[in-house]
Amino acid sequence: MPHHDLLVVGELNVDLILNEIEGFPKIGTEILADQMNLVMGSSSAIMAANSASIGVKTSFCGLVGDDNFGKLILDELSKKQVSTKYIQTSPDHKTGITIVMNYEEDRANVTYCGAMEALNENHIPWNELGDFKHFHLSNFFIQKGIRNDITNIFKKAKTQGVTTSLDLQWDPENKWDFNYKECLPHVDVFMPNESELLALTKASSIEEGVKLISPYANTIVIKMGSKGSMAYQNGEKTTVKAFKNPEYVDAIGAGDSFNSGFIQKYIERKSIEKCLKHGNLMGALNTTAAGGTAAFTDRDNINGKVKSIFNSAL
Ligand SMILES: Nc1ncnc2c1ncn2[C@@H]1O[C@H](COP(=O)(O)OP(=O)(O)OP(=O)(O)O)[C@@H](O)[C@H]1O
Ligand SMILES: [Mg+2]
Repeated sequence: MPHHDLLVVGELNVDLILNEIEGFPKIGTEILADQMNLVMGSSSAIMAANSASIGVKTSFCGLVGDDNFGKLILDELSKKQVSTKYIQTSPDHKTGITIVMNYEEDRANVTYCGAMEALNENHIPWNELGDFKHFHLSNFFIQKGIRNDITNIFKKAKTQGVTTSLDLQWDPENKWDFNYKECLPHVDVFMPNESELLALTKASSIEEGVKLISPYANTIVIKMGSKGSMAYQNGEKTTVKAFKNPEYVDAIGAGDSFNSGFIQKYIERKSIEKCLKHGNLMGALNTTAAGGTAAFTDRDNINGKVKSIFNSAL
């Protein structure tokens, strides 16, 4: 069956990116931006698109509104060879959007969640999940409907015989209300970055954070930016250094691309070290072009870039 390696369940939104803004916005005034882009956003969609680009047969399950932004997302995912069969269009919600105001050092974002908050357990194609090899869910905190059902979703997924992974992502409310003791036993690979792990566990070091969640977690994978990544599995720690990147542009979506690479090898049942290395490679590749998907064109092109920049292969 064509799209049955990976099912990604997650949020869908567009990013309206403003660049070269002349100053900071102030109430009661108007300022100009010299550049604008409207693109598919959302960490889950970037992960799905990049997985498909590197050869993983990928389907997406999500919710968009019946509007132009929803169409843009469906078109973009289809173009990237992601099956949109399990994306539903809601007549009652608008597609989510993030307005990104990009300044040199940093960004100011405003997100309207829209349909992404309405996605819940009932939208997941439970009867067909058994046809997939792997189930990935990302951006837990921002999806209110998913948040309420999270333990049940992973529990149910495991009964269908798939392997599972969860990328927590940041909590915009900074409350970190995730019952990891209940949920993580049903998650095969838990994939936070360093700051998310510390914020979730209130620990003061990665080691302490890992100690706190270890009794409940299976494999813990921690993303560490330009330091690379590490994993804790069966009481053993594996660390893999990041690739040196001479063509760095930005790190938007690097974590999602890392997930794509890691899961590709995880589905192939490769060793944890190989999974981490491939995650690092895809994360590093991501940083060679602007945004989350630009570096992931087609397989041949990606292979060429990976060889010339990182002396490596898909
Ligand atoms: N500057 C860099 N050079 C080389 N590799 C990088 C760089 N930045 C990120 N990576 C690779 O990408 C992986 C994921 O990046 P990062 O740790 O920033 O994830 P994240 O914080 O989850 O990102 P996101 O904001 O996309 O969710 C890293 O583990 C690393 O392998
Ligand atoms: Mg991340």
